[in-house]
Parts: sequence; C-alpha cells; structure tokens
Amino acid sequence: MASKVPFVTFNNGQKFPIFGLGTWKSKPGEVKEAVKYAISIGYRHIDCAHIYENEPEIGSALSEVFKEGIVKREELYITSKLWNTMHRPDLVEPAIKTTLKNLQLEYLDLYLIHWPFALKEEGALFPTNPDGTTAYSDVDYLDTWKAMEAVQKKGLTKSIGVSNFNKKQLERLLQNSTIPPATNQIEVHPYLNQKKLIDYCTSKKIVITAYSPLGSPDRPWAKPGDPQLLDDPKIVALGKKYKKTPAQVVLKYQVQRGNITIPKSVTKSRILQNFDIWDFNLTAEDIALLDSFDCNGRICPYDDAFSHKDHPFSRDEY
Ligand code: A2P
Repeated sequence: MASKVPFVTFNNGQKFPIFGLGTWKSKPGEVKEAVKYAISIGYRHIDCAHIYENEPEIGSALSEVFKEGIVKREELYITSKLWNTMHRPDLVEPAIKTTLKNLQLEYLDLYLIHWPFALKEEGALFPTNPDGTTAYSDVDYLDTWKAMEAVQKKGLTKSIGVSNFNKKQLERLLQNSTIPPATNQIEVHPYLNQKKLIDYCTSKKIVITAYSPLGSPDRPWAKPGDPQLLDDPKIVALGKKYKKTPAQVVLKYQVQRGNITIPKSVTKSRILQNFDIWDFNLTAEDIALLDSFDCNGRICPYDDAFSHKDHPFSRDEY
C-alpha cells in the first residue's frame, strides 16, 4: 500500500509522503509495536519529537525493521522536533544528536522547531519559576533557526522546518534566513481549518503538516463534555455516504487539501483503518461542507506560556 501514498515536494526539492504515523501521546510501552506494525503495512513516514519522551522505543522499532529487512533507511521519512528548552544556538546540535542516538539513526529527514517560544534552558523539560509559572527564556527563534540551518548543512537532517508558527513569525523568519522552512506543522482539523494560515504558507511554498487531524480525543487536558470531532453527526453522516469511518473522512479531507497528515494511533485496527483512504475522494461540495465546520476550536493552545513574547496564538494573530 506504500506506493499508493502521494508525495509532496518541499521548497528544497525533497519529496515527503503526505501521510504518516503520529506518535504524540503514544506511550513507551505501546509505541514500538505501533511503529513496527505501521511500517509493516506500508507507512513510510513517522512523526516524532523529543518531548514525546518515547524516541528510544521508536529507535528500537526502527532498528528491528531494518534488521528484519522490512524496509531500508532510505525508504523511510523520519521527523523530529527541537524542544523549547533547547533553543539556545549552542544547544541545537547536541539536541538533534540526542534524538538521532535515541532513534538509532544517522540522519533525520526533517527537523522542526517545535514551538516559536523558548523556555529556560538546561533543566526540566517544562521548567517552572518558584511561583509555579512557566520559566521563559528570551532566545530569539531567528538565532535558533541559524543553528537549525547549520545542522542541515552538516547533514544531520535533510530538511528543516517549524511548528506552531503564526504568519508574522513566518514572515520574520523568511526575511532573515538563508534556508526557508520546508513545512509549518500546525493543528488542523475541521473545527480549526486554518484557511488563512494555509493560504499564506502556500503562497510562500511552505507545506503544511496537519497535527491533531482527528481532534486528539486523547489529549491529556480533555474535559468531559468537550465536543468530540469523530462523534459529530455531520461527519458521521459523511462517513456513511462514502462507506468510510468519520476518521477516514477527516483524514482524507486534509490529504485532499494537500496537507501532510499524521494521525496518531497505537491500535492496530485503527492504524490500518487510517491508512485505508486511497480508494475514495471527497467531492468539492463535501470539502466545502467540512470547511464550514470551522469554529476556532483550537485544542492545543499551550496556555501555560500565553504571556511569552513569542507565543504564537495569544495576540489575535493567525
Ligand atoms: P488510539 O491511539 O488509542 O488508537 P490525533 O491524531 O488527532 O492526535 O488523535 C489521536 C487519537 O485518536 C488517539 O486517542 C487515537 O486512539 C484515536 N484514533 C486514532 N485513529 C482512530 C480511528 N480510526 N478511530 C477513532 N479513534 C482513532
């Protein structure tokens, strides 16, 4: 089935599968089997991050699939992300090297700045002040980006990009960099369709990667009674029309919009189901209908850092 997955082309010419396995919230005890199973059925793109605290287990899965001859390194596309406490330029190369060691890889295909704002370096991954508030750092993401460019030039990653950047931050980055970001990985689903930011990124040849495409029902801060995207009767009805599940409908919606899509699952039947979206297409009318569900329903606001000068969502920007 791997051959059915379309590729997108980044602004640097690198091709990347439009569909991959997300690993945010995949527990260390579950993620290894999930990654091995996904690769065995044709997934070729795995989205990782240092902060998910499961890269060693993913590394063990990758090393096994290579040893077992299921896939070769050059057939896989592996993304990881620089955590907020490692933005200081001298920390970037050690950070990617730690990730490479954990993933048991020689190079990444894509390395992203996870969030535009920096947090206090060299301590906890979620550093706090004595009063319990989040401890910030004032490192500018432009300086971090220079170090990202350097690790790409060293061959530690084939492409670099960003995540959770707003339009103003992307404009500033584009004006002050020699390598433009290949992608901006952002939250995208029918309740937050991100049309304005996607249009801007497209105009600048920055591919969108859609995280939380299923609405992340397993997000740790979900409250009882929160709207559940996959239970939305209008999406359930669309699924019935195409003889597909609500998950398959919202995943194909992103793919048809040209967005790289990375649903997370640790359940074999769902990993398989999510990958079975290549035999149908939503009509333009149904895509427009899904577009109309937008309600600014952001589920990953990172509000613990709302007052940071570089917080991307706290100032009415998109
Ligand atoms: P699980 O990992 O237990 O299979 P997102 O990618 O938007 O963050 O969503 C991930 C969440 O969606 C996880 O709770 C995952 O559960 C669940 N999930 C993944 N695929 C499906 C599916 N096909 N149907 C329903 N829930 C799914």
